[in-house]
Amino acid sequence: MTQAKVLVARSIFPETIARLQAHFDVEANQADDDWSAAQLIEKLQGKQGVFTTGSERIDAALLAACPDLKICANMAVGYNNFDLDAMTARGVLGTNAPDVLTETTADFGFALLMATARRIAESEHFLRAGQWKKWRYDMFSGSDIHGSTLGIIGMGRIGQGIAKRGALGFGMKVIYHNRSRLDAALEAECKASYVGKEELLKTADHVVLVVPYTPASHHTIGAAELALMKPTATLVNIARGGIVDDAALAVALRERRIAAAGLDVFEGEPKVHPDLLTVPNVVLTPHIASATVPTRRAMADLAVDNLIGFLVDGKPVTPLNPA
Ligand code: DGY
Repeated sequence: MTQAKVLVARSIFPETIARLQAHFDVEANQADDDWSAAQLIEKLQGKQGVFTTGSERIDAALLAACPDLKICANMAVGYNNFDLDAMTARGVLGTNAPDVLTETTADFGFALLMATARRIAESEHFLRAGQWKKWRYDMFSGSDIHGSTLGIIGMGRIGQGIAKRGALGFGMKVIYHNRSRLDAALEAECKASYVGKEELLKTADHVVLVVPYTPASHHTIGAAELALMKPTATLVNIARGGIVDDAALAVALRERRIAAAGLDVFEGEPKVHPDLLTVPNVVLTPHIASATVPTRRAMADLAVDNLIGFLVDGKPVTPLNPA
């Protein structure tokens, strides 16, 4: 039987390539440069599967130019790089990598919240710059985590993980907003109460965003929403760029309309809005919320499981569409 042909669109663990090679005829991009859309189309000719990392755009134009493609396996839980409707229309399967990164990403959401509220990055830069000359009563005073109100927008698995960390680990009052309310048992497990978005923004001391990116969630937080937040509040985005209007956030931070923000994702990343780079009260990290060695390996393994499951056994593990 001839082996299916699979493309790996970005550099990845050698072990991941080896696993794929045991089942497929593999071409892998092991350079550190991303392929352009045109290069990706060229490389996809004759390939039945592609291993994507979450940023390769799979849309109607690419699908029309790659008639052999049958499956796109994302090594990410988010899949806003896929036009799922176009994929379904062409009979191309999309898969993602849920669950394996939930706890790692929730850990990072909490780490970013703490670094932001307690001004860890800002004070470290101050120290490294040799500016620490004396102790002062008000030096880098931030806001408390324990006993404060945590507002979570998006209460999927990662949101629930953050809620539990806040309620059980830090005695926080947890409120959340989501498209649909959790059932009572899950709310009790997360010790979280459902509120409207406006109430959450007005009352939370710390707001964490964990919603998937869709046209409906574009700029969930813009100037109007930032204006509702407390001037002492912090905002953390570990979801996707585009959920926050980064330009409006930079203005709110500069004018101290909110106290601070922690951002792991950006509109148009890896570019970062230049105004965010010049305000001190923001912690910026390069989309690393799921970046621990075991979790990144598990994400890659799940993408491989999906390619094998579908192309060899006819049964993907985590399908996204009915293709
Ligand atoms: C995801 O899995 O969607 C994360 O953003 C990691 O890339």
